Amino acid sequence: MIYYDDSVKIKMINGKRCGIYIDNDGNEHIVSNICPHMKCNLIFNYVDKTWDCPCHASRFDIDGNVISGPSVFDIKINNE
Ligand code: FES
Repeated sequence: MIYYDDSVKIKMINGKRCGIYIDNDGNEHIVSNICPHMKCNLIFNYVDKTWDCPCHASRFDIDGNVISGPSVFDIKINNE
């Protein structure tokens, strides 16, 4: 596991690299940490509370919805 700090972590879950943001109420927001565009690892943006891609600037909210492209896919984890 990779720790950013107490509120943000990178962790392998079921073989998938995931980003976890823990909000002020203690709720975990778990998303894929792999950008759907070309598979770069996403970086947490503490100012806007988003997951940002360092490669081509796609951005996602803490629940995995795509905010801006080039990615057209979200990063939500399917609970199967
Ligand atoms: S790999 Fe993330 S925007 Fe291209």
